[in-house]
Amino acid sequence: MVRGNLLATIMKTIVVLTGAGISAESGISTFRDNNGLWRQYRFEEVASPEAWAREPELVMDFYNMRRKQLLAVKPNAAHFALEELEKKFRVRIITQNVDDLHERSGSSDILHLHGELRKARSTADKDLVYDISGWELKLGDFCEKGSQLRPHIVWFGETVPNIMVAAGIVRKADIIIIIGTSLKVYPAAGLLQYAPSSAPKYLIDPEATPEYQVRNLQIFREKACIGVPKLVKELLISAVQTHQSP
Ligand code: OAD
Repeated sequence: MVRGNLLATIMKTIVVLTGAGISAESGISTFRDNNGLWRQYRFEEVASPEAWAREPELVMDFYNMRRKQLLAVKPNAAHFALEELEKKFRVRIITQNVDDLHERSGSSDILHLHGELRKARSTADKDLVYDISGWELKLGDFCEKGSQLRPHIVWFGETVPNIMVAAGIVRKADIIIIIGTSLKVYPAAGLLQYAPSSAPKYLIDPEATPEYQVRNLQIFREKACIGVPKLVKELLISAVQTHQSP
């Protein structure tokens, strides 16, 4: 077996579930905290198929503003720490976030559950997905089949196409890290039920409550930029020790 394959087979798999909290310190609003997006907007009016049918300009504007903001921010220490973790682990990120900060910090295995802000897709064919180069998507921007493009976002009331792929990834985790999510939105919030009960689980969130009914869970009530690099450092040290032991 070539060395790369051998290393891949002995590396443990860490599955990381991220939510809006990991990007908060980059300057992107969460949804349900004070000042969160859903305290400023009614999601039914900007993030639902009904809103798109009723007032597409409003929906476009909402996502154009968010895309403009995304282009002005950078990944933070928590995103970069997850990239660092790939030195010793297979790291599979499942994110509810629609930003691209995991991509920009160099992580290599990322599954977006709720879509991607910097992409558009055809309203006629869900498989026609395009990168958006700047911040603006407009009414009158068409796919190659001549249909209007919409934000590539999973809106309320729509199914989450990647959820079973995500469940399969969680099932195979050796270790799970959950960062900055209120775990209030299903089906994403239900993913932990697929986690092997023996797998160590770490939750990093300043507002985490001890009520989670999950086995082997350790909670760190810290912001992502503090808690994630700290945990990553510990995991990297433990991986080195495991490899050195006879
Ligand atoms: P929420 O806004 O519901 O939760 C954000 C979580 O991040 C909270 O638990 C905060 O305590 C935590 N948090 C805040 N600042 C943090 C920091 N600096 N470091 C770490 N954690 C911090 O966001 P999500 O759980 O991601 O879906 O929301 C899930 C989904 O609901 C979103 O993907 C979005 C939304 O509606 C869609 O738009 C489809």
